[in-house]
Amino acid sequence: MKRVRKAVIPVAGLGTRFLPATKSMPKEMLTIVDRPVVQYAVDEALEAGIEHIVFVTGRNKSAIEDYFDLQPELNGFLARSGKLEQLNCLQELQLPAGSISFTRQQSPLGLGHAVWCARDMIGDEPFALLLPDMVSFGEKGCLAGIMDFYERTGGNVIAVEQCHPAETNRYGIVGKGKEFGAGFAIDAMVEKPAPTEAPSNYYINGRYLLQPEVFAILGRQEPGAGSEIQLTDAMLRLLAEQPFFAVPFEGRMYDCGSKEGFVQANVAFALARNDVRDHVFDPIAAMMSSLEQRVAAE
Ligand code: G1P
Repeated sequence: MKRVRKAVIPVAGLGTRFLPATKSMPKEMLTIVDRPVVQYAVDEALEAGIEHIVFVTGRNKSAIEDYFDLQPELNGFLARSGKLEQLNCLQELQLPAGSISFTRQQSPLGLGHAVWCARDMIGDEPFALLLPDMVSFGEKGCLAGIMDFYERTGGNVIAVEQCHPAETNRYGIVGKGKEFGAGFAIDAMVEKPAPTEAPSNYYINGRYLLQPEVFAILGRQEPGAGSEIQLTDAMLRLLAEQPFFAVPFEGRMYDCGSKEGFVQANVAFALARNDVRDHVFDPIAAMMSSLEQRVAAE
């Protein structure tokens, strides 16, 4: 079984759900507490043992490339002015030279197309895919969980969660086949089905471990749901040829491409941070109780 060394992180999306904030700034650079959203996906990939990250970017996304570059002037300034805590933070986050690559998706043709743009950089090996809008929160990152599962099964593995049955049209949905340890074999896959058409309420939560054969399928694929080249459609074809498993994620995934999910993630991560918790917990508790009183009085 080939080891998974590389991860793809698509960051080409326009972020229309987050306008006006994303008019001049990539949505992946919005911050959860004090780190950009994309940093959380990178941390999760590194935790899972990934050695090389391929970002699929687009126009107006150069802030992401700059963020991952070394900033010698800034580091020099921090050192000279004794801001060692900040300097250490930047140094700890700095990725080794040569361990990240960037390629561009020239037109917004869908997630499947974005992944296909990384084909030459991935080559003939299994790879991880992390959709950075979905931010994993829990003891152990979501990717590390599916990586452990993959070590026992091989094949293709994706992480899933259960959504409200009325919300299947927001996600890729899988059908549940035979159980396999902590996961199950997938027997169906549909992108954003109406609740009446959905094979279950297990939705694909944005973490994938895929075999490279998916690239050939993506390369000859027609547009699907929403007139976009869909990764889910390509995975469905791969499912006919290779083992395909789903593993329910035991932590929590915040959809930071939506305003609600983004605000919830900020609260959750702030409360989980020792340096921030005490300064936000009491004000949030006070806000909640005054809100409750107001609602009760109405
Ligand atoms: C994409 C995938 C979908 C998946 C979702 C998770 O959809 O196509 O299968 O469930 O991410 O966030 P998007 O959110 O890009 O519409």
